[in-house]
Amino acid sequence: MENEIIHIALFASGTGSNAGKIIEYFHLHPFIKVALVVSNNPDAPVLKISSGAGIGTLIISRERFFKGDAYIDVFHEKKIDFIVLAGFLWKVPLTLIRAYPGKIINIHPALLPKFGGKGMYGKHVHEAVLAAGEKISGITIHYVDEQYDHGKIIFQASCPVTKEDDANTLAEKIHQLEYHHFPPVIEKTIKNIVKTTGTHS
Ligand code: GAR
Repeated sequence: MENEIIHIALFASGTGSNAGKIIEYFHLHPFIKVALVVSNNPDAPVLKISSGAGIGTLIISRERFFKGDAYIDVFHEKKIDFIVLAGFLWKVPLTLIRAYPGKIINIHPALLPKFGGKGMYGKHVHEAVLAAGEKISGITIHYVDEQYDHGKIIFQASCPVTKEDDANTLAEKIHQLEYHHFPPVIEKTIKNIVKTTGTHS
């Protein structure tokens, strides 16, 4: 098993600063490789990061993702073992969840189960946290199931929310937590799966 490579597909819809950190973290990893960057947005800045790093990209269409095979053939062809959502804004269809059971994880920029669900992404989350007068916020890394921001929680970390914070300063604090924790949590989660199953396929 140690000699096999685990291939990750990174899904991102926008800037992709988390995707960039993840790509950097696994760049020289002995057995985990970011093999594909997937986006629903052909203009997403994340695509520049991936092509700069020599990683293949896949632009997905709503039609095939939700009503077709969810690109499972492509993921199998690229030998994708594990899927990481890093700022991906579409809901993951059941077809894909079933094809990768327990092997799709997401990061959410708040302490779930609060401030999750449809429409809760990026700045909207931070605005809701501030409007609710929360004193702490944070990040949640969780498995993906068929409901938005709902699957089993793997990891959380928190930061203070002060009265000086606005959505931008809070987003910055959250991004710092994400950059610090997300790559090693991905690594640990994959290592645990490998250890439990003895194989990644
Ligand atoms: C991240 O903060 C991530 O937690 C959030 O989008 C941001 C993407 O930033 N994801 C969600 O809101 C999902 N519900 P990035 O493109 O710079 O990595």
